[in-house]
Amino acid sequence: MRVLVSGGAGYIGSHTVLSLIEAGHDVLVVDDFSNSKPTVMARVESLTGAHVPVHAFDLTDVDKTERLFATEQIDAVIHFAGLKAVGESVAKPLEYYANNLGSTFALVNAMRHHDVRRLVFSSSATVYGDNAPVPYHEDYQPLSASSPYGRTKVMQEQVLSDVAAADGLKVALLRYFNPVGAHRSGTMGEDPQGIPNNLMPFIAQVAVGRREKLAIFGDDYPTADGTCERDYIHVEDLAAGHVAALEHLDAMTEPVRAFNLGGGTGTSVLELFRAFERAVGHELPYEIAGRRAGDLPAYWADTARAAEELGWRATRTIDDMCADTWRWQSANPQGYPEG
Ligand code: NAD
Ligand code: UD1
Repeated sequence: MRVLVSGGAGYIGSHTVLSLIEAGHDVLVVDDFSNSKPTVMARVESLTGAHVPVHAFDLTDVDKTERLFATEQIDAVIHFAGLKAVGESVAKPLEYYANNLGSTFALVNAMRHHDVRRLVFSSSATVYGDNAPVPYHEDYQPLSASSPYGRTKVMQEQVLSDVAAADGLKVALLRYFNPVGAHRSGTMGEDPQGIPNNLMPFIAQVAVGRREKLAIFGDDYPTADGTCERDYIHVEDLAAGHVAALEHLDAMTEPVRAFNLGGGTGTSVLELFRAFERAVGHELPYEIAGRRAGDLPAYWADTARAAEELGWRATRTIDDMCADTWRWQSANPQGYPEG
């Protein structure tokens, strides 16, 4: 298939572009580089030997999005583009609603006009809200979220479900748990701009000396060691899940289907931190700080549906995730070069 990857220069998008090419698909990317650097594409091209055409524009620009579909042959779309920082979304809600919803409207409208009927969408476990039983199952209702970012995901899922039913699209809603890790080559990985919001990139920057120490947000949760438990998933496993979902779309009997992409077990903050120390080979500094507002004690994915219907499951361990993150971060302490 010829696949348009929106947000293909980002963390998960770039790893998925690589996996798509390795699986024999043709890829083109649209990205405005608002949260990524163009130099990532050279890394993808050197790992695959393929040329990846990049269209650098903001997808909320309806005219440019229409023109792209008018001039390129596109068989399917994987839609990663969007803003994703939970705290920032509380401070700038309108930017989040405008970007995440606006890009989806422009993209899906262009797909309808040009008869492109296959879509894989980046959703998040955040749509399960605060009260879903663990492990999270795809059929749980009602979906909700506690931040504007999370609410854009709930809304996008709703919009895509309605449009799929009305217009004959096939849509896979992929609900990611906690994506971490880096490509095993050490040449591609997560490159957050500014202070990392998420645990793994923060630990990686402590290990490389960019941050003084990790603050662990709370050790008094009702878990085995008192720190929060999450379902971490290696970004290469996640990328493979997108290829599996894309290739499953035509066989779907319903217009829209949600799939959890996680490993199916919980790992605590302390366990992840200790695993990272093993990857680095020495102890790292940390302190126990207060709880972070909005954090849930523990959750992980029910992974049965993705295994049965997509034939996909995560295979990489927590130690793999830490070793690969460390290989990337130590070889690229400042992330991708500017350029
Ligand atoms: P990322 O920020 O690294 O990648 C997103 C890419 O989209 C960036 O390259 C950015 O420049 C681009 N972009 C943003 N708005 C755009 C627009 N209007 N037009 C064109 N390009 C635009 O993020 P990521 O971690 O790779 O996440 C990808 C998707 O997965 C996002 O939709 C995110 O919400 C979702 N997701 C991520 C996580 C996670 O932990 N990383 C978890 C759940 C869901
Ligand atoms: C967060 C978002 C979620 C989003 C996900 C992926 C919140 C409440 N949730 O999930 O919506 O989909 O990121 O982008 O923001 N931790 C520390 N110290 C740190 C950073 C994190 O102890 O410096 C802890 C957190 O308290 C949490 C765990 O590590 O218990 C994982 O945190 P994080 O990586 O931010 O992911 P989530 O909170 O699961």
